[in-house]
Amino acid sequence: MGIKPLVLFMTSEMYPFSKTGGLADVLGALPLTLFRMGVNAAVVTPLYGRMNTSEFGLRLLTERCPVGYPWAPITAEIYQADYYGMPIYFVGRGEYFDRRNLYNTHAGDYFDNCERFNFFCRATLEWARRLDWAPAVIHAHDWQSALVPAYLHFWRRTDPFWKDTKTVLTIHNLAFQGRFASRLFFESGLPAEAWNMDGAEFYGDFNLLKTGIAYADSVTTVSPSYAEEILTPRFGCGLEGMLARRRGVLRGILNGADYSVWDPRDDKFLPCIYKAGCAEGKKDCKAALLKEMHLPDQLEDRPVMSFIGRFRGQKGVDLLIDIIPRLMEREVGLIVLGEGKLEHEARLQELAEVHQDRLRVIVGYSEDLAHRIQAGSDIFLMPSRYEPCGLTQMYALRFGTPPVATAVGGLRDTIVPHPAPGATGFTFQDPTPDGFFAAIQQALELWDADKPAWEAMVDRAMGQDFSWEQSAAQYIDLYRSLGARV
Ligand code: ADP
Ligand code: GLC
Repeated sequence: MGIKPLVLFMTSEMYPFSKTGGLADVLGALPLTLFRMGVNAAVVTPLYGRMNTSEFGLRLLTERCPVGYPWAPITAEIYQADYYGMPIYFVGRGEYFDRRNLYNTHAGDYFDNCERFNFFCRATLEWARRLDWAPAVIHAHDWQSALVPAYLHFWRRTDPFWKDTKTVLTIHNLAFQGRFASRLFFESGLPAEAWNMDGAEFYGDFNLLKTGIAYADSVTTVSPSYAEEILTPRFGCGLEGMLARRRGVLRGILNGADYSVWDPRDDKFLPCIYKAGCAEGKKDCKAALLKEMHLPDQLEDRPVMSFIGRFRGQKGVDLLIDIIPRLMEREVGLIVLGEGKLEHEARLQELAEVHQDRLRVIVGYSEDLAHRIQAGSDIFLMPSRYEPCGLTQMYALRFGTPPVATAVGGLRDTIVPHPAPGATGFTFQDPTPDGFFAAIQQALELWDADKPAWEAMVDRAMGQDFSWEQSAAQYIDLYRSLGARV
């Protein structure tokens, strides 16, 4: 019996090794779910400086994997770890990846991001050549991996090794495209014929995501609604025309939630565990959270809201900031965890000074606190201007914390809005402070006026099932539709 055809994932971040956002959660779960469903999956990711690899037994495979033109004689180190039996290959090169952060500092993006991630793409392909068989599918994610579909599109013509390898590019956020000066295209190793408006060129610049969209065999994004939205100027970030041209290969597959990490029935970060139908455990988590946040006990009987996310325009944190004074006139608590734009961090901290008995703002990144906030709060706020999928609202649902969210993208696909039958949360159409505040008021009214109805909503929210198996099955169908016998 031969080896099963390989699906090789490429990602710039993967939980629990590295993470800046939802991309890491997706790559921490999707490949492993496929692997457990019998797909021969493996992942390639950069080896960053501060990485959580110790418990996974990292070992060096080669110190000198050639990367080819335009890098020769520079080489990559390749390491391997076994992640519950599935191979993870790490691409190392200190000068590119051994840095404090993954992509940027407060001062801006690293100046050599194009070179860093093109190096990652080329090292992945050269490493893949050293595996026994060419992968049946290379599944690339976001702009950092998006040149791989383009290389293969051109190499397949002359290199028999790649002739049967199909490429899938998943877009997690169209706002991040990897846009660089044109000269970097001509140094990239892609053929000059890719330099046109249906290829790598974007208003005179080299656009990595667009390049991937142009040449991938299949393009996916992370929710059905976002797959529609990105064909419009409002959400297309200038690529709506290109996406429309590739509409035939574009598909939206909803992300899943990894309930082995995010489930209050068995969560290592919580002071106590709980499940649907037993409100007591959640109450205890709330009391413990209020204590941890030094918020008054009186809030135990009042709704405590939360926001967890990057302080950026996408997440609508400015809408939240705008309504905080109004919100604080109500008898409610609010806990905000996140980091991002300095002006938002500063404004939130000022507001927290003014409303010390109601509002806590934690500027920073804390995986375990995120779990405790999800569990210990009552209403989860997510006023995103756009949301390709969004994982935090799925986690909030499972933790019995009904979300108040904008009706966009994956939020629309995962929340059943009150007062529809089977409601699991609250949504609003236009991302304005008034629209957001009105939706919060709906939630507060239900909380105050009809406690049994509130508790029924909490139970329904906890009963939602966004397990990865359902999404993984759709990816298997997709790979097979490309002819891969996975
Ligand atoms: P995005 O990827 O756009 O940031 P998602 O909802 O898909 O949004 O995923 C965000 C992920 O990052 C979740 O796992 C969330 O808990 C986590 N996260 C975001 N900000 C923080 C923070 N400040 N501390 C801890 N976890 C965070
Ligand atoms: C991006 C999107 C987010 C999505 C995540 C994982 O970061 O902003 O909506 O959930 O990717 O796909």
